[in-house]
Amino acid sequence: MHTKENSCCCSFDDCKLTTEWLLSRTRHRPKIAVVCGSGLGLLADSVSNKQVFRYEDIPNFPVSTVPGHEGCLVFGHVKDKSCVFMQGRFHLYEGYSLCKVTFPVRIFKLMGVETIMVTNASGGLCQDFKVGDIMIIKDHINLPGFAGQHPLCGPNDERFGIRFPCMSDAYSKELRKLALDISAELGYSNFVREGVYCMVSGPNFETVAEARMLHILGSDSVGMSTVPEVTVAKHCGLRVFGLSLITNKVSLDYSREEKVNHEEVLQISKMRAEMLQKVLQTLIARSNQLESINTN
Ligand code: HPA
Repeated sequence: MHTKENSCCCSFDDCKLTTEWLLSRTRHRPKIAVVCGSGLGLLADSVSNKQVFRYEDIPNFPVSTVPGHEGCLVFGHVKDKSCVFMQGRFHLYEGYSLCKVTFPVRIFKLMGVETIMVTNASGGLCQDFKVGDIMIIKDHINLPGFAGQHPLCGPNDERFGIRFPCMSDAYSKELRKLALDISAELGYSNFVREGVYCMVSGPNFETVAEARMLHILGSDSVGMSTVPEVTVAKHCGLRVFGLSLITNKVSLDYSREEKVNHEEVLQISKMRAEMLQKVLQTLIARSNQLESINTN
């Protein structure tokens, strides 16, 4: 969040400085940015013409502190498409302000990125979901946002976007449809679904009462990321697509003994990450089918 005093280092000029630093060091001019979630960082490993920047070397960039989040910005090609990957993202629970969490999104915008693809790990609330399912994010609930933890609070910089952005169509319908078609072609239809992702701040996993509440509110899965980045991406006119890997079932029942832990989340991610990667790769390769679509 930008404070009234503007004391944070995420102003338009800070974003410009970081963008220019990157553009002067890479020949890549990506149109697609991918944010890799917990245990999903290997998505970036298979790109060609790879160029890697460590977060700590990029001016103004935050540094990721979570195991399973590497902390590199990777430029490269997927098929013939120039992409930039965030290997590791920033979370509210690490103590970062939401302006830091979403800082890279604005850098992507200033670099000329048009589409952002976000991935994450989440807990399944929808009773039909199984561990290892891949959920195409149809919509989200910004629970921290309801409580005032919102990346767009504070003075609005019109160079990024308007004061009151529309969020009712945050996740591109065309990309969701294409991802469903691709999943069917790959034979993944029995574990690829669509649903509503709810963000909580974390770092603790949900109590049973909290999980029940989120389920009643219409959430199909719950996690601790993604919504701030998507909100800022939509604000600055990026086209958004999101995939969530269901790494555990969230207990809605006091008699169930299921317990979540971070190692389990990483383990499941590893198993299904390859399939998630395949969906994303194919989506990126075919995304030019949709290039004429207006994002606003
Ligand atoms: N709750 C919140 N965040 C998560 C979960 C969960 O059950 N699983 C993976 N990230």
